[in-house]
Amino acid sequence: AFHKEAKDVSFTSDGPLGKFDRQQLQRGFQVYKEVCAACHSLRLVAFRNLEEIGYNEDEVKAIAANWPIQTPDVDPATGEMSTRASVAADKLPKPFANDVAAGAANNNAIPPDLSLITKAREGGAPYIYSLLTGYQAPPADLPKANQPGPGLHYNPYFANLNLAMAPPLAAADMVSYSDGTKASIDQMAKDVSAFLIWSAEPKLEERHQAGWAVLAFLLIATILAYLSYRTIWADVK
Ligand code: HEM
Repeated sequence: AFHKEAKDVSFTSDGPLGKFDRQQLQRGFQVYKEVCAACHSLRLVAFRNLEEIGYNEDEVKAIAANWPIQTPDVDPATGEMSTRASVAADKLPKPFANDVAAGAANNNAIPPDLSLITKAREGGAPYIYSLLTGYQAPPADLPKANQPGPGLHYNPYFANLNLAMAPPLAAADMVSYSDGTKASIDQMAKDVSAFLIWSAEPKLEERHQAGWAVLAFLLIATILAYLSYRTIWADVK
């Protein structure tokens, strides 16, 4: 492959004992909401799912109420899709009515839905983090064929080396974290990547716990099997 391997970055959800850091997931959601949601949908996440990352019911209602969602009706006065306030049961609103509108706004590239992106891309969350923090000027010795064309941006972590997404986290403090964490580019990239691990696998912690319960069961079953073997063969000399 041409592109670079993802950077070595760790998340609290890594490994068999891994758990989400809910404070971090909330920060990542804030980055998604204030930056990525302008272009990317998150079609599998409903507002009420945000309770799983630590918001209470009233907070979820307030987040939804402040986020307009398109309705299927066209406003007869303007010809535009009408909007209404979201409710907790809604999926997070899509930024564009359809792929045609999404492409038109993005140089014909369609920003992919991010719900499952950490599973869909080789490299997972470390890849997403590397992509977000990996933009750079094309190296001088880059073959001409690999130079970024118009509207494209060089990023050595991207499979094609050049992508249509301009660096979305271009400056520190693009968001202002309510928990006081300093919003460096690195921090925002890490937080939104962690959030996208959660969106792709909200039941990760249950899966990890089930694994340990299975191991404990198998261990006990093995001990029992061994003891009964000893008992059954005890009289055989
Ligand atoms: C592609 C993440 C913000 C427009 C992508 C990809 C990811 C991603 C993971 C897919 C890369 C791949 O195919 O492997 C994010 C995140 C954002 C963000 C986490 C917020 C921090 C934005 C914004 C825009 C945008 C604000 C529009 C102004 C695009 C477009 C593509 C893309 C057009 C397709 C690029 C291509 O295929 O060449 N983004 N994005 N993204 N994003 Fe974003």
